Amino acid sequence: MTPTDPTPAADPTDPTPAADPTDPTPIDRAPIVIERITIPQTIDAPDAADFVETVAVENEIRADAIGSDDLAWLPDEQLPNWLDAYKDMRWYVVRDAGRIVATGSYESRLDGDGASTAYVDVMVLPSHRRRGIGSALLAHVEEVARREGRTQAIAYVRSTGEAEPRLLPPTGAGSVGADDAAVQLLQGAGWVLGQVVRCSRLALPVDEEALAGIRDRARAAAGDDYRLHTWVGRSPERWLDDLAALETRMSTDAPSGGVDEPEDVWTPERFRDAEEKALAGPRTRFTAVVEHVPTGRLAGFSQLEAPAERSRPAFQQDTLVLREHRGHRLGWLLKIATTDLLTAERPGHPGVFTFNAEENRPMLDVNEAVGFVPFEYEGVWSRRLRP
Ligand SMILES: CC(C)(COP(=O)(O)OP(=O)(O)OC[C@H]1O[C@@H](n2cnc3c(N)ncnc32)[C@H](O)[C@@H]1OP(=O)(O)O)[C@@H](O)C(=O)NCCC(=O)NCCS
Repeated sequence: MTPTDPTPAADPTDPTPAADPTDPTPIDRAPIVIERITIPQTIDAPDAADFVETVAVENEIRADAIGSDDLAWLPDEQLPNWLDAYKDMRWYVVRDAGRIVATGSYESRLDGDGASTAYVDVMVLPSHRRRGIGSALLAHVEEVARREGRTQAIAYVRSTGEAEPRLLPPTGAGSVGADDAAVQLLQGAGWVLGQVVRCSRLALPVDEEALAGIRDRARAAAGDDYRLHTWVGRSPERWLDDLAALETRMSTDAPSGGVDEPEDVWTPERFRDAEEKALAGPRTRFTAVVEHVPTGRLAGFSQLEAPAERSRPAFQQDTLVLREHRGHRLGWLLKIATTDLLTAERPGHPGVFTFNAEENRPMLDVNEAVGFVPFEYEGVWSRRLRP
Protein backbone atom coordinates (compact mmCIF):
# COMPACT_ATOMS: atom_id res chain seq x y z
CA MET A 1 0.00 0.00 0.00
CA THR A 2 1.17 3.49 -0.74
CA PRO A 3 -0.05 6.42 1.30
CA THR A 4 -2.55 8.58 -0.57
CA ASP A 5 -3.87 12.06 -0.04
CA PRO A 6 -6.86 11.90 2.32
CA THR A 7 -8.20 15.31 1.31
CA PRO A 8 -8.63 15.82 -2.42
CA ALA A 9 -9.09 19.43 -3.51
CA ALA A 10 -12.21 20.70 -1.77
CA ASP A 11 -14.63 22.65 -3.92
CA PRO A 12 -16.67 25.11 -1.83
CA THR A 13 -19.61 24.85 -4.24
CA ASP A 14 -19.66 21.09 -3.96
CA PRO A 15 -22.73 19.82 -2.05
CA THR A 16 -20.74 16.86 -0.77
CA PRO A 17 -17.32 18.14 0.22
CA ALA A 18 -14.62 15.55 -0.19
CA ALA A 19 -13.07 16.61 3.08
CA ASP A 20 -15.65 16.25 5.83
CA PRO A 21 -14.82 18.37 8.86
CA THR A 22 -17.14 16.33 11.12
CA ASP A 23 -15.50 13.05 10.21
CA PRO A 24 -12.98 11.56 12.56
CA THR A 25 -9.39 11.82 11.46
CA PRO A 26 -8.30 8.91 9.31
CA ILE A 27 -7.87 5.69 11.20
CA ASP A 28 -4.49 5.59 12.82
CA ARG A 29 -3.33 2.54 10.96
CA ALA A 30 -0.80 3.89 8.51
CA PRO A 31 -0.52 3.39 5.68
CA ILE A 32 -4.30 2.81 5.31
CA VAL A 33 -5.88 6.16 4.44
CA ILE A 34 -9.65 6.49 4.37
CA GLU A 35 -11.01 9.16 2.09
CA ARG A 36 -14.56 10.42 1.55
CA ILE A 37 -15.54 10.71 -2.09
CA THR A 38 -17.75 13.33 -3.70
CA ILE A 39 -21.25 12.34 -4.76
CA PRO A 40 -21.73 14.09 -8.11
CA GLN A 41 -24.99 15.67 -9.27
CA THR A 42 -24.76 13.80 -12.57
CA ILE A 43 -22.63 10.99 -13.93
CA ASP A 44 -21.20 13.32 -16.60
CA ALA A 45 -20.11 15.94 -14.06
CA PRO A 46 -16.38 16.71 -13.93
CA ASP A 47 -16.27 15.46 -10.32
CA ALA A 48 -17.96 12.10 -11.03
CA ALA A 49 -14.83 10.00 -11.60
CA ASP A 50 -14.43 8.72 -8.02
CA PHE A 51 -18.12 7.83 -7.79
CA VAL A 52 -17.98 5.91 -11.09
CA GLU A 53 -14.84 4.07 -10.00
CA THR A 54 -16.33 3.21 -6.59
CA VAL A 55 -19.44 1.74 -8.22
CA ALA A 56 -17.22 -0.33 -10.52
CA VAL A 57 -15.17 -1.65 -7.58
CA GLU A 58 -18.31 -2.71 -5.71
CA ASN A 59 -19.62 -4.43 -8.84
CA GLU A 60 -16.31 -6.27 -9.19
CA ILE A 61 -16.54 -7.50 -5.58
CA ARG A 62 -20.19 -8.57 -6.04
CA ALA A 63 -19.37 -10.42 -9.27
CA ASP A 64 -16.51 -12.20 -7.53
CA ALA A 65 -18.89 -13.35 -4.77
CA ILE A 66 -21.76 -14.59 -6.96
CA GLY A 67 -19.94 -15.51 -10.17
CA SER A 68 -21.91 -13.19 -12.47
CA ASP A 69 -22.79 -9.55 -13.15
CA ASP A 70 -26.45 -10.18 -12.30
CA LEU A 71 -26.44 -7.94 -9.23
CA ALA A 72 -24.42 -5.12 -10.78
CA TRP A 73 -25.63 -1.53 -10.52
CA LEU A 74 -24.51 1.01 -13.09
CA PRO A 75 -23.40 4.42 -11.79
CA ASP A 76 -26.46 6.23 -13.16
CA GLU A 77 -28.72 3.57 -11.59
CA GLN A 78 -27.07 4.10 -8.21
CA LEU A 79 -26.97 7.88 -8.26
CA PRO A 80 -30.66 8.54 -7.37
CA ASN A 81 -30.17 6.71 -4.03
CA TRP A 82 -27.06 8.72 -3.27
CA LEU A 83 -28.81 12.03 -3.98
CA ASP A 84 -31.63 11.33 -1.50
CA ALA A 85 -32.25 14.71 0.16
CA TYR A 86 -33.76 13.05 3.24
CA LYS A 87 -30.62 11.12 4.10
CA ASP A 88 -27.03 11.64 5.15
CA MET A 89 -25.15 9.54 2.61
CA ARG A 90 -21.36 9.16 2.66
CA TRP A 91 -19.03 6.96 0.70
CA TYR A 92 -15.48 6.24 1.81
CA VAL A 93 -12.70 4.54 -0.09
CA VAL A 94 -9.18 3.25 0.39
CA ARG A 95 -6.78 3.49 -2.55
CA ASP A 96 -3.67 1.60 -3.47
CA ALA A 97 -1.37 3.41 -5.89
CA GLY A 98 -4.25 5.71 -6.79
CA ARG A 99 -6.71 2.93 -7.57
CA ILE A 100 -9.75 2.38 -5.32
CA VAL A 101 -9.47 -1.04 -3.66
CA ALA A 102 -12.06 -0.87 -0.89
CA THR A 103 -15.29 0.96 -0.10
CA GLY A 104 -17.29 1.81 3.01
CA SER A 105 -20.76 3.28 2.80
CA TYR A 106 -22.73 5.13 5.44
CA GLU A 107 -26.43 5.99 5.25
CA SER A 108 -28.76 7.47 7.82
CA ARG A 109 -32.05 9.36 7.95
CA LEU A 110 -31.63 13.00 8.95
CA ASP A 111 -34.54 13.09 11.41
CA GLY A 112 -37.25 11.02 13.07
CA ASP A 113 -36.82 7.52 14.52
CA GLY A 114 -34.80 6.52 11.46
CA ALA A 115 -32.05 8.91 12.51
CA SER A 116 -31.21 6.55 15.39
CA THR A 117 -29.69 4.13 12.92
CA ALA A 118 -26.88 4.14 10.40
CA TYR A 119 -26.76 1.54 7.62
CA VAL A 120 -23.21 0.67 6.71
CA ASP A 121 -21.43 -1.62 4.28
CA VAL A 122 -17.77 -2.44 3.74
CA MET A 123 -16.23 -4.12 0.69
CA VAL A 124 -12.61 -4.96 -0.08
CA LEU A 125 -11.27 -6.24 -3.41
CA PRO A 126 -10.14 -9.88 -3.07
CA SER A 127 -6.59 -8.83 -4.00
CA HIS A 128 -6.43 -6.53 -0.95
CA ARG A 129 -7.98 -8.63 1.80
CA ARG A 130 -6.36 -9.66 5.10
CA ARG A 131 -4.41 -6.42 5.36
CA GLY A 132 -6.63 -4.75 7.92
CA ILE A 133 -8.50 -2.59 5.39
CA GLY A 134 -11.96 -4.09 6.05
CA SER A 135 -11.69 -3.68 9.81
CA ALA A 136 -10.34 -0.13 9.43
CA LEU A 137 -13.25 0.88 7.18
CA LEU A 138 -15.80 -0.77 9.47
CA ALA A 139 -14.36 1.04 12.50
CA HIS A 140 -14.42 4.27 10.50
CA VAL A 141 -18.10 4.13 9.49
CA GLU A 142 -19.03 3.08 13.03
CA GLU A 143 -17.12 6.07 14.37
CA VAL A 144 -18.88 8.41 11.94
CA ALA A 145 -22.21 7.02 13.17
CA ARG A 146 -21.22 7.57 16.79
CA ARG A 147 -20.06 11.12 16.13
CA GLU A 148 -23.34 11.87 14.37
CA GLY A 149 -25.27 10.64 17.42
CA ARG A 150 -26.57 7.40 15.90
CA THR A 151 -27.16 4.71 18.52
CA GLN A 152 -27.30 1.69 16.24
CA ALA A 153 -25.59 0.44 13.09
CA ILE A 154 -27.13 -2.14 10.74
CA ALA A 155 -25.38 -4.01 7.91
CA TYR A 156 -26.76 -6.35 5.24
CA VAL A 157 -23.97 -8.80 4.47
CA ARG A 158 -23.83 -11.39 1.69
CA SER A 159 -23.23 -15.00 2.65
CA THR A 160 -22.48 -17.46 -0.13
CA GLY A 161 -21.99 -21.22 -0.07
CA GLU A 162 -23.04 -23.84 2.44
CA ALA A 163 -19.80 -24.30 4.36
CA GLU A 164 -20.17 -25.72 7.88
CA PRO A 165 -20.41 -24.71 10.67
CA ARG A 166 -23.48 -22.49 10.35
CA LEU A 167 -24.55 -19.51 12.43
CA LEU A 168 -28.30 -19.10 12.97
CA PRO A 169 -30.16 -15.86 13.67
CA PRO A 170 -32.61 -15.71 16.62
CA THR A 171 -35.50 -16.26 14.18
CA GLY A 172 -34.12 -19.77 13.54
CA ALA A 173 -34.81 -19.20 9.84
CA GLY A 174 -31.82 -19.50 7.52
CA SER A 175 -28.15 -19.36 8.42
CA VAL A 176 -24.78 -17.95 7.37
CA GLY A 177 -21.37 -19.63 7.30
CA ALA A 178 -19.90 -19.15 10.76
CA ASP A 179 -16.37 -19.01 9.35
CA ASP A 180 -17.17 -16.50 6.58
CA ALA A 181 -14.69 -13.61 6.51
CA ALA A 182 -17.44 -11.05 7.12
CA VAL A 183 -18.95 -13.08 9.95
CA GLN A 184 -15.57 -13.28 11.66
CA LEU A 185 -15.00 -9.58 11.13
CA LEU A 186 -18.42 -8.53 12.42
CA GLN A 187 -18.51 -10.86 15.40
CA GLY A 188 -15.01 -9.77 16.35
CA ALA A 189 -16.22 -6.16 16.29
CA GLY A 190 -19.22 -6.86 18.53
CA TRP A 191 -21.96 -7.17 15.92
CA VAL A 192 -24.93 -9.54 16.29
CA LEU A 193 -26.74 -11.51 13.58
CA GLY A 194 -30.46 -10.74 13.77
CA GLN A 195 -31.99 -12.14 10.60
CA VAL A 196 -31.28 -13.89 7.32
CA VAL A 197 -32.68 -12.54 4.07
CA ARG A 198 -33.13 -14.71 1.00
CA CYS A 199 -32.43 -13.35 -2.47
CA SER A 200 -34.47 -15.32 -5.02
CA ARG A 201 -34.44 -15.32 -8.80
CA LEU A 202 -37.32 -15.91 -11.17
CA ALA A 203 -36.33 -16.98 -14.68
CA LEU A 204 -38.33 -15.20 -17.38
CA PRO A 205 -40.52 -15.83 -19.24
CA VAL A 206 -42.66 -17.43 -16.55
CA ASP A 207 -44.66 -20.55 -17.32
CA GLU A 208 -48.00 -18.91 -18.22
CA GLU A 209 -50.04 -21.97 -17.24
CA ALA A 210 -48.63 -22.00 -13.68
CA LEU A 211 -49.12 -18.26 -13.42
CA ALA A 212 -52.73 -18.40 -14.63
CA GLY A 213 -53.66 -20.82 -11.84
CA ILE A 214 -52.14 -18.58 -9.17
CA ARG A 215 -53.67 -15.46 -10.70
CA ASP A 216 -57.16 -17.01 -10.63
CA ARG A 217 -56.78 -18.19 -7.03
CA ALA A 218 -55.52 -14.79 -5.92
CA ARG A 219 -58.36 -12.95 -7.66
CA ALA A 220 -60.95 -15.28 -6.15
CA ALA A 221 -59.50 -14.86 -2.63
CA ALA A 222 -59.32 -11.05 -2.96
CA GLY A 223 -62.95 -10.83 -4.11
CA ASP A 224 -64.75 -7.61 -5.01
CA ASP A 225 -63.50 -5.62 -2.02
CA TYR A 226 -60.04 -5.26 -3.54
CA ARG A 227 -59.22 -3.66 -6.89
CA LEU A 228 -55.85 -3.81 -8.62
CA HIS A 229 -54.29 -0.76 -10.32
CA THR A 230 -50.99 -0.79 -12.19
CA TRP A 231 -48.82 1.81 -13.90
CA VAL A 232 -45.43 2.38 -15.45
CA GLY A 233 -43.32 5.31 -14.23
CA ARG A 234 -44.81 8.26 -12.37
CA SER A 235 -47.42 7.50 -9.70
CA PRO A 236 -50.84 9.14 -9.98
CA GLU A 237 -51.38 12.11 -7.65
CA ARG A 238 -54.44 10.48 -6.06
CA TRP A 239 -52.37 7.72 -4.48
CA LEU A 240 -49.46 9.76 -3.11
CA ASP A 241 -50.68 9.98 0.52
CA ASP A 242 -51.33 6.25 0.60
CA LEU A 243 -48.04 5.36 -1.08
CA ALA A 244 -46.16 7.41 1.52
CA ALA A 245 -48.09 5.61 4.27
CA LEU A 246 -47.25 2.24 2.71
CA GLU A 247 -43.55 3.12 2.47
CA THR A 248 -43.61 4.11 6.15
CA ARG A 249 -45.26 0.83 7.08
CA MET A 250 -42.56 -1.04 5.12
CA SER A 251 -40.25 -0.19 8.00
CA THR A 252 -42.63 -1.40 10.70
CA ASP A 253 -44.80 -4.11 9.09
CA ALA A 254 -42.16 -6.14 7.23
CA PRO A 255 -40.62 -8.83 9.46
CA SER A 256 -37.30 -7.66 10.86
CA GLY A 257 -36.38 -10.70 12.98
CA GLY A 258 -33.95 -9.89 15.74
CA VAL A 259 -33.05 -6.53 14.21
CA ASP A 260 -34.46 -3.35 15.72
CA GLU A 261 -35.43 -1.55 12.50
CA PRO A 262 -36.57 2.00 13.25
CA GLU A 263 -39.71 3.52 11.79
CA ASP A 264 -38.79 5.41 8.63
CA VAL A 265 -41.46 8.03 8.03
CA TRP A 266 -42.35 8.95 4.44
CA THR A 267 -44.38 11.99 3.47
CA PRO A 268 -46.03 12.44 0.04
CA GLU A 269 -43.31 15.02 -0.73
CA ARG A 270 -40.56 12.56 0.10
CA PHE A 271 -42.23 9.87 -2.00
CA ARG A 272 -42.49 12.21 -5.00
CA ASP A 273 -38.93 13.43 -4.58
CA ALA A 274 -37.52 9.88 -4.46
CA GLU A 275 -39.67 8.87 -7.40
CA GLU A 276 -38.65 11.85 -9.54
CA LYS A 277 -34.98 11.08 -8.88
CA ALA A 278 -35.43 7.38 -9.63
CA LEU A 279 -37.34 8.08 -12.83
CA ALA A 280 -34.63 10.48 -13.99
CA GLY A 281 -32.28 7.48 -13.94
CA PRO A 282 -32.18 4.74 -16.58
CA ARG A 283 -34.39 2.20 -14.80
CA THR A 284 -38.10 1.86 -15.55
CA ARG A 285 -40.37 1.45 -12.55
CA PHE A 286 -43.49 -0.72 -12.62
CA THR A 287 -46.01 -0.36 -9.81
CA ALA A 288 -49.01 -2.42 -8.74
CA VAL A 289 -51.32 -1.35 -5.90
CA VAL A 290 -54.42 -2.87 -4.39
CA GLU A 291 -57.24 -0.52 -3.48
CA HIS A 292 -59.57 -1.51 -0.64
CA VAL A 293 -62.78 -0.53 -2.43
CA PRO A 294 -65.03 0.14 0.63
CA THR A 295 -62.58 2.73 2.01
CA GLY A 296 -60.91 3.86 -1.21
CA ARG A 297 -57.52 3.48 0.49
CA LEU A 298 -54.55 1.41 -0.62
CA ALA A 299 -54.08 -1.91 1.17
CA GLY A 300 -50.80 -2.90 -0.46
CA PHE A 301 -48.25 -2.16 -3.15
CA SER A 302 -45.37 -3.68 -5.05
CA GLN A 303 -42.72 -2.06 -7.21
CA LEU A 304 -40.40 -3.59 -9.75
CA GLU A 305 -37.54 -1.88 -11.56
CA ALA A 306 -36.05 -2.90 -14.88
CA PRO A 307 -32.71 -1.68 -16.27
CA ALA A 308 -32.54 -0.08 -19.71
CA GLU A 309 -30.78 -3.14 -21.19
CA ARG A 310 -33.10 -6.09 -21.80
CA SER A 311 -30.17 -8.46 -21.34
CA ARG A 312 -30.08 -7.62 -17.63
CA PRO A 313 -32.44 -8.81 -14.88
CA ALA A 314 -35.14 -6.74 -13.21
CA PHE A 315 -35.47 -6.17 -9.45
CA GLN A 316 -38.54 -6.47 -7.31
CA GLN A 317 -38.49 -3.53 -4.90
CA ASP A 318 -40.70 -2.82 -1.91
CA THR A 319 -43.76 -5.05 -1.56
CA LEU A 320 -46.18 -4.75 1.34
CA VAL A 321 -49.70 -5.69 2.33
CA LEU A 322 -50.85 -3.77 5.40
CA ARG A 323 -51.35 -6.02 8.44
CA GLU A 324 -55.07 -5.26 8.58
CA HIS A 325 -55.54 -6.51 5.02
CA ARG A 326 -53.58 -9.74 5.22
CA GLY A 327 -55.14 -13.13 4.53
CA HIS A 328 -56.74 -12.24 1.17
CA ARG A 329 -53.86 -13.35 -1.05
CA LEU A 330 -53.17 -9.72 -1.93
CA GLY A 331 -49.43 -10.45 -1.89
CA TRP A 332 -49.98 -12.99 -4.64
CA LEU A 333 -52.12 -10.55 -6.61
CA LEU A 334 -49.42 -7.87 -6.41
CA LYS A 335 -46.51 -10.14 -7.33
CA ILE A 336 -48.34 -11.51 -10.34
CA ALA A 337 -49.42 -8.03 -11.37
CA THR A 338 -45.88 -6.65 -11.45
CA THR A 339 -44.62 -9.73 -13.29
CA ASP A 340 -47.49 -9.44 -15.80
CA LEU A 341 -46.76 -5.74 -16.28
CA LEU A 342 -43.06 -6.33 -16.91
CA THR A 343 -43.80 -9.14 -19.36
CA ALA A 344 -46.34 -7.03 -21.25
CA GLU A 345 -44.36 -3.79 -21.33
CA ARG A 346 -40.78 -4.97 -21.57
CA PRO A 347 -40.46 -8.59 -22.62
CA GLY A 348 -36.95 -10.01 -22.93
CA HIS A 349 -35.42 -9.51 -19.47
CA PRO A 350 -33.83 -12.81 -18.37
CA GLY A 351 -35.14 -12.77 -14.81
CA VAL A 352 -36.33 -10.95 -11.72
CA PHE A 353 -34.58 -10.80 -8.35
CA THR A 354 -36.38 -10.34 -5.06
CA PHE A 355 -35.27 -10.14 -1.40
CA ASN A 356 -37.35 -11.50 1.50
CA ALA A 357 -36.81 -12.31 5.15
CA GLU A 358 -36.18 -16.03 5.47
CA GLU A 359 -38.88 -16.26 8.16
CA ASN A 360 -41.44 -14.49 5.95
CA ARG A 361 -43.19 -17.70 4.92
CA PRO A 362 -46.28 -16.07 3.37
CA MET A 363 -44.12 -14.01 1.00
CA LEU A 364 -41.78 -16.92 0.23
CA ASP A 365 -44.85 -19.06 -0.52
CA VAL A 366 -45.96 -16.49 -3.09
CA ASN A 367 -42.53 -16.36 -4.65
CA GLU A 368 -42.03 -20.11 -4.75
CA ALA A 369 -45.47 -20.60 -6.30
CA VAL A 370 -44.62 -18.11 -9.05
CA GLY A 371 -41.31 -19.91 -9.69
CA PHE A 372 -38.67 -17.94 -7.75
CA VAL A 373 -35.73 -20.09 -6.58
CA PRO A 374 -33.13 -19.20 -3.92
CA PHE A 375 -30.09 -17.39 -5.36
CA GLU A 376 -28.13 -16.20 -2.32
CA TYR A 377 -28.53 -15.15 1.31
CA GLU A 378 -27.72 -12.08 3.35
CA GLY A 379 -27.21 -11.81 7.08
CA VAL A 380 -28.72 -8.73 8.72
CA TRP A 381 -26.34 -7.59 11.44
CA SER A 382 -26.63 -4.87 14.02
CA ARG A 383 -24.56 -3.25 16.67
CA ARG A 384 -25.51 -0.89 19.49
CA LEU A 385 -23.30 2.20 19.47
CA ARG A 386 -22.43 3.91 22.67
CA PRO A 387 -21.67 7.60 22.44
C1 LIG B 1 -15.31 -9.09 4.98
C2 LIG B 1 -14.24 -8.19 4.33
C3 LIG B 1 -14.78 -6.76 4.30
C4 LIG B 1 -12.98 -8.26 5.19
O1 LIG B 1 -12.02 -7.34 4.64
P1 LIG B 1 -10.47 -7.50 4.98
O2 LIG B 1 -9.81 -6.24 4.55
O3 LIG B 1 -9.94 -8.75 4.45
O4 LIG B 1 -10.53 -7.59 6.56
P2 LIG B 1 -9.33 -7.43 7.59
O5 LIG B 1 -8.02 -7.71 6.95
O6 LIG B 1 -9.47 -6.12 8.27
O7 LIG B 1 -9.65 -8.59 8.62
C5 LIG B 1 -10.32 -8.33 9.82
C6 LIG B 1 -10.78 -9.62 10.46
O8 LIG B 1 -11.80 -10.22 9.70
C7 LIG B 1 -11.68 -11.65 9.79
N1 LIG B 1 -11.38 -12.20 8.47
C8 LIG B 1 -11.07 -11.52 7.36
N2 LIG B 1 -10.90 -12.38 6.34
C9 LIG B 1 -11.13 -13.61 6.82
C10 LIG B 1 -11.14 -14.88 6.25
N3 LIG B 1 -10.86 -15.07 4.95
N4 LIG B 1 -11.42 -15.93 7.04
C11 LIG B 1 -11.70 -15.77 8.34
N5 LIG B 1 -11.72 -14.56 8.93
C12 LIG B 1 -11.42 -13.50 8.18
C13 LIG B 1 -10.54 -11.91 10.75
O9 LIG B 1 -11.12 -11.96 12.04
C14 LIG B 1 -9.72 -10.67 10.56
O10 LIG B 1 -8.90 -10.41 11.65
P3 LIG B 1 -7.41 -11.03 11.65
O11 LIG B 1 -6.80 -10.72 10.32
O12 LIG B 1 -6.77 -10.35 12.79
O13 LIG B 1 -7.60 -12.50 11.83
C15 LIG B 1 -13.89 -8.70 2.90
O14 LIG B 1 -13.63 -10.08 2.96
C16 LIG B 1 -14.95 -8.42 1.87
O15 LIG B 1 -14.97 -7.35 1.27
N6 LIG B 1 -15.88 -9.37 1.67
C17 LIG B 1 -16.99 -9.16 0.75
C18 LIG B 1 -17.96 -8.08 1.23
C19 LIG B 1 -18.43 -8.32 2.64
O16 LIG B 1 -18.76 -9.41 3.04
N7 LIG B 1 -18.52 -7.22 3.41
C20 LIG B 1 -18.83 -7.25 4.81
C21 LIG B 1 -19.66 -6.08 5.13
S1 LIG B 1 -19.45 -5.57 6.80
